[in-house]
Amino acid sequence: MSKLKAPLSALAGFLVLALPVLRAQSPELPAAPIREKVNTACTECHESRIILQQRLSKGAWTKEVDKMIKWGAVVDAADRDAFIDYLSQNFPPDKAGEVMPRSAGSKRR
Ligand code: HEC
Repeated sequence: MSKLKAPLSALAGFLVLALPVLRAQSPELPAAPIREKVNTACTECHESRIILQQRLSKGAWTKEVDKMIKWGAVVDAADRDAFIDYLSQNFPPDKAGEVMPRSAGSKRR
C-alpha cells in the first residue's frame, strides 16, 4: 500500500502545477470601450487566441470581420466599424506578435 503513495502524490503534484497553465489558454483581449462586445461576439466559436495571433491590415480585418459575420458572428451593424478599428489598431501587421506558447491544443479539430 505504501508503495502506491509516492506515485499518487507525484500525480497530484503534477495536476496542481499543470492546471493553472492549462487554464491560462484563453488570453484576454486588450482593454477598450468596445472590448466586451468583441469578447462576446468573437469568442463564441473560438478562443480569443485566434484573434490575438493575427497581424492584419485594416483592409484584411474588414474582410475578416465581414467573413465572421457571414459565418454567424452577432455584430450590430452600428458596431462593425468600431470592431474593425479596434482590431486593426491592436493587431496591425507592424506590431510584434504576442509571446504565447503555441500548445498543441490551440488548433482544434
Ligand atoms: C459563428 C462562429 C464564429 C464566430 C461568432 C466568430 N468566428 Fe472567427 N472563426 C470561425 C471559424 C469556424 C474559424 C475557422 C478557423 C478555426 O476555427 O480553426 C474562424 C477563424 C477566425 C480567425 C482566423 C483566420 C481565419 O479566417 O481563419 C480570426 C482572426 C477570426 N476568426 C476572428 C473573428 C472575429 C474578430 C470575430 C468577431 C467579429 C469572430 N471571429 C467570430 C467562426 C466564428
